[in-house]
Amino acid sequence: MEFIDSQLQVYAEKSTSHESDLLKKIERETHLQVLKPRMLSGHLQGRFLSMISKMIKPKNILEIGTYTGYATLCLAEGLEKNGTLITVDVNEELEKRVRGYFAESKLSGIEYIIGNAIRIIPTLNYEFDLVFIDADKENYANYFDLVIDKVAPGGFVLADNVLWSGKVLDGKPDKDTRSIIEFNKKIQEDARVENVLLPVRDGITLMRKL
Ligand SMILES: C[S@@+](CC[C@H](N)C(=O)[O-])C[C@H]1O[C@@H](n2cnc3c(N)ncnc32)[C@H](O)[C@@H]1O
Repeated sequence: MEFIDSQLQVYAEKSTSHESDLLKKIERETHLQVLKPRMLSGHLQGRFLSMISKMIKPKNILEIGTYTGYATLCLAEGLEKNGTLITVDVNEELEKRVRGYFAESKLSGIEYIIGNAIRIIPTLNYEFDLVFIDADKENYANYFDLVIDKVAPGGFVLADNVLWSGKVLDGKPDKDTRSIIEFNKKIQEDARVENVLLPVRDGITLMRKL
């Protein structure tokens, strides 16, 4: 489902700052060589993530769901000097490719962990200023609960795909859709954060820890 007219989408992209040559290469190679390329954030959302990160200037960032590293590099653009960006993904098949992209970026401070985020997050001894939840939908609520006590007061959490191609309005939602609907309801009722659901691409919820 397209959320805005496709011509308006093109216009929005044309009116948005360009991405780097490396990001263009990651997008191109992901589409040509990797399964499910739609999972990649892409130009417009990538510039949004970069802008948010530059506004926050985080010392520590956590990304849950690296995939081919596109959003990782966008988020890293705002990282404070000597800051750390931890990105976690369970898919070891993409490791070599992703490590190659990170090396090519010459950005320091990225720590890439291969493993199940449910098991990895409790082992992370950091206070995060920015968290990006973008892995398996059935665990969105679990990721939020695992991470929220590790978020600094006034820190931010972003969750991607919260409109799930419009399926959140389905009368008979499938399993992943139900998880997203439950997550959206949970966040709306959670007194620990204030939140705004932005209809950018597939929907991004921006939360601020109170
Ligand atoms: C939507 S993609 C991430 C896209 C990336 N953040 C971007 O914007 O370019 C979701 C990723 O989550 C990963 N994933 C799924 N379940 C996971 C889990 N339990 N722990 C860690 N990663 C997981 C998948 O392997 C996949 O690469």
